Amino acid sequence: MAAESMPSVSVEGKTAVVIGGTRGIGRAIALGFAEDGADVVATSRTEDAVADVAEELRERGASTTEVTCDVTSDADIDALVEATVADVGDVDVLVNSAGVNATTPVTEMTNEEWERDIAVDLTGVFKACRAFAREMDEGSIINISSMSADQAREARPSYCAAKSGVNGLTRAVAADLAPDIRVNAIAPGFVKTEMAGPKLDDGSEFRETVDERTPMERVSTPDEMVGTAIYLASDGASFTTGEVITVDGGYDPSAQ
Ligand SMILES: NC(=O)c1ccc[n+]([C@@H]2O[C@H](COP(=O)([O-])OP(=O)(O)OC[C@H]3O[C@@H](n4cnc5c(N)ncnc54)[C@H](O)[C@@H]3O)[C@@H](O)[C@H]2O)c1
Repeated sequence: MAAESMPSVSVEGKTAVVIGGTRGIGRAIALGFAEDGADVVATSRTEDAVADVAEELRERGASTTEVTCDVTSDADIDALVEATVADVGDVDVLVNSAGVNATTPVTEMTNEEWERDIAVDLTGVFKACRAFAREMDEGSIINISSMSADQAREARPSYCAAKSGVNGLTRAVAADLAPDIRVNAIAPGFVKTEMAGPKLDDGSEFRETVDERTPMERVSTPDEMVGTAIYLASDGASFTTGEVITVDGGYDPSAQ
């Protein structure tokens, strides 16, 4: 194949929406997309957080719009789709990065904790996939799952269940939306964000164990998720759908 006909691993010229895009992994992906030449709408529930990231997106040359979205609300998701199309353009890429994480053992977990995690981490992904797929002619959807989808983690029943659900949902939605829209997931290992940072830095043996079980000997930064997201969003991934790509530094929970 001649070099000029190679599909490009870039999001230049695309319009992307990142839900949960004001912090952590989602924010890194939103800014990384903008640096690579995409127009990006990054959203979460709070106006100030949305305004802050919008300013950073504009500094990187991206067109954007400021709209809050609680991913548990159908009306908010519909308003997000509408505002993006009206103010920025037709959507090529959706990233679902909103996430919450109750850290309660099963015997103590309340219905409210369980229902909140499932509502945000699983049902929110379903609702956003549904709403955006109705609008998108073609493109790519990327769900941020977790290695916790496939591993037992103490005091995370709702989170592990939700993330396993995200992997199944990703494969099912990929089948429904092919061939026009590709749907994949990224399953990060431990990433230093506001979600995981406190546990990773609490001075307990936990962090030492994580580093020992990780061939890369450390946890990752949010920026280290960006390359995989750009790949999955790009035309370079034109034959990749229904996949879960693990980005965990080789983490092996059984390593001593
Ligand atoms: N940090 C890790 O170690 C790690 C590992 C694996 C997977 N993940 C996943 O990555 C994703 C991002 O996590 P993070 O570590 O960046 O966390 P974070 O807490 O830094 O960011 C989460 C984002 O989601 C938003 N959010 C939460 N509830 C929302 C709602 N109802 N509607 C809209 N937005 C909402 C928050 O405002 C924030 O912008 C999550 O899905 C998480 O489960 C994180």
